[in-house]
Amino acid sequence: MQLTIAHLSDVHLAPLRGLSPMHLNIKRALGFANWMMKRRKVHRREAVDALVADLARQNVDHIIVSGDLVNLGLPGEHVAALEWLEQLGPPERVSVVPGNHDIYCTLRRDPGVERWRAYMTSDAAGAPLAAQGERGFPYVRLLGKLAVVGLNSAMPTRPFQANGRIGERQLGALATTLDRLRQDGLMRLVVVHHPPLAGQADARRGLLDADRLEALLTTHGAELVVHGHNHVDMHATRTWPGGRVDVVGIASASVARAHQHESLGRYNLIRLNPADPASGIEIVSRGLTSPDGPVAEVGRRNLAGAPARS
Ligand SMILES: [Fe+2]
Ligand SMILES: [Fe+2]
Repeated sequence: MQLTIAHLSDVHLAPLRGLSPMHLNIKRALGFANWMMKRRKVHRREAVDALVADLARQNVDHIIVSGDLVNLGLPGEHVAALEWLEQLGPPERVSVVPGNHDIYCTLRRDPGVERWRAYMTSDAAGAPLAAQGERGFPYVRLLGKLAVVGLNSAMPTRPFQANGRIGERQLGALATTLDRLRQDGLMRLVVVHHPPLAGQADARRGLLDADRLEALLTTHGAELVVHGHNHVDMHATRTWPGGRVDVVGIASASVARAHQHESLGRYNLIRLNPADPASGIEIVSRGLTSPDGPVAEVGRRNLAGAPARS
């Protein structure tokens, strides 16, 4: 049975909500200045709304949101993002992982992105297959023969840094989880905010243990990894002993005007058949064709089918 999965990322929801003296520090002050001078003109709510309206007409089986839902990691933003998620769909239809703008600074006793936990947790079928990692990651959700594996790469960082880390415990659990899923004959779709391969982001923005995640993926395998963070479309491939790993990054879903190297807001429709991974994966990109819309198909490609798994 073919599935259609929508993947959107880096919505950076506007407006900023809840900036108070209690949560103000140097990193947020710099982030706020950057938002006011630059980013709020680029990341527009109207762009996100246009894409989501288009997505609602695509008859998708599931929606993946790969982080950076907000901007300064503020509690008020987390609340607003939860409201946005609830409009996007119920937790069983939407899977979320956090990005560096969601876990931006420490929040003391505030629950932060835990507010989104219903969207970031295993389902009943996937829970027994998810090895225990760190703070509920990785989680596993099953859509028939497709397993969606959610990772958390976000951590608080210092000013001018946007790094991420998977960490020892999550990496260990991911290896076990990927092996279990393969043994059960499931197709594995891993979701992570930061680009997962070494060298895919620069030293101040990249995953600090990307070399270890890459080594894990090329040993234990995954049929597809999707990510955001770089705000550009990306595609890389690696091999593992059982076949090929496709790594697909999507641009931001909220860019409403030309900005540096970033394309206008877009999202991907991923079409695959988990019962027959060798039949290949089709990626259809839909996005704004001009700053004021409309949303239309802006790209289409077929990722070659992976060889049969061992
Ligand atoms: Fe982002
Ligand atoms: Fe990011």
